Amino acid sequence: MATIIDGRKLAKKINDETAKQVTKLKSENVFPCLAVILVGDDQASHRYVRSKHRKAEQLGIKSIVKEMPENTTQEDLMQVLNEYNNDDDIHAILIQSPLPKQIDEKFIMKQINPKKDVDGFQTINAGNLFLNESTNYPVACTPNGVMQMFKEYNVALEGKKAVVIGRSTIVGRPMAALLINAGAEVTVLNHFAEVSQYTKDADIIVSATGKLHTLRAADVKAGATVIDVGQNVDENGKLVGDVDFDEVAKVAGNITPVPGGVGPMTICMLMKQTVQLAKWSDK
Ligand code: GUN
Repeated sequence: MATIIDGRKLAKKINDETAKQVTKLKSENVFPCLAVILVGDDQASHRYVRSKHRKAEQLGIKSIVKEMPENTTQEDLMQVLNEYNNDDDIHAILIQSPLPKQIDEKFIMKQINPKKDVDGFQTINAGNLFLNESTNYPVACTPNGVMQMFKEYNVALEGKKAVVIGRSTIVGRPMAALLINAGAEVTVLNHFAEVSQYTKDADIIVSATGKLHTLRAADVKAGATVIDVGQNVDENGKLVGDVDFDEVAKVAGNITPVPGGVGPMTICMLMKQTVQLAKWSDK
C-alpha cells in the first residue's frame, strides 16, 4: 500500500508558520492584505473564494473580496484592478479564474502589478519561473504546494522521470517548470496523448485533467509518486480526483487523496505567498 500524502496535515504546519510571520510583520507595522476579485456566478469559484477568505482571517491576514456581476465589462474590471494595483495597503491581488467570456482573461492577468501577483500568472513572474531565476517572485500556488509535498515526503526529483498530465496556465505549465528546475526529466501531456504509454515508465505523475479515471493501476509503475490535482464530482455527487485512488494506491509508493490532498495546499501557499509579498513590499 502506498504512503498517503496528507495535504491537510502539511497545510496546517505551513499555516502555523504563516500565522507566526503575520504576528511578526504586524509588530513591525506591516499588515498583510490580500484582495480577491471574483467576477460572475460560477458556484465553484464562489466556494473557493469563501475558503480563501476564511483562512486569511484565521491567520490574521486582512482579506478583501470584491464581487462583481456576471455582466461586468473589461473596463469595469480594469478600473478595480488599477485601484488595487496602486493601493499601498494591498500586498497581494488574486483574480479568480475563470472569468466571464466577455473578458479577455490572458490580457487581464498581464495587467496585475507583478509585485502583487500572488498567483505568479503575470508575464514577468511566469518568465522568472521559466528561466529559473533565483530572485524572489511568486509562483502559482497549486504546483508550488505540490513541490512542498515532495519536500515533506522526501520524494527525490533530480534525474527522475516526471509526467505532467495537462498543460494549463494554472497547474500544468508551472508544474512542469518547477520540476524542470528541480532537475527532473519532464514530459507534459495534452488530450491527444495515450497517457499510459508515458506514465507506465514514470517515477512521478501529476494529473491535472479534471477528468475521472485519467489514471488506473495498470498505468502506474510500482513505487511511483502519484499527485492528483483533479477536483471532480462523480455520479453519486461525491468529490473525487482524476485518479482511481483505491486501485492506484495498491501500486504507487506515495499518493495524494481527494479530498485532503492538493486542495488544502493551494490555499496554504496562497496565504504564505501573501505574507511573502507583504515582506518584500518594503524592499
Ligand atoms: N481558479 C482555480 N484555481 C485558481 C488559482 O489558483 N488562481 C486563480 N486566480 N484562479 C483559480
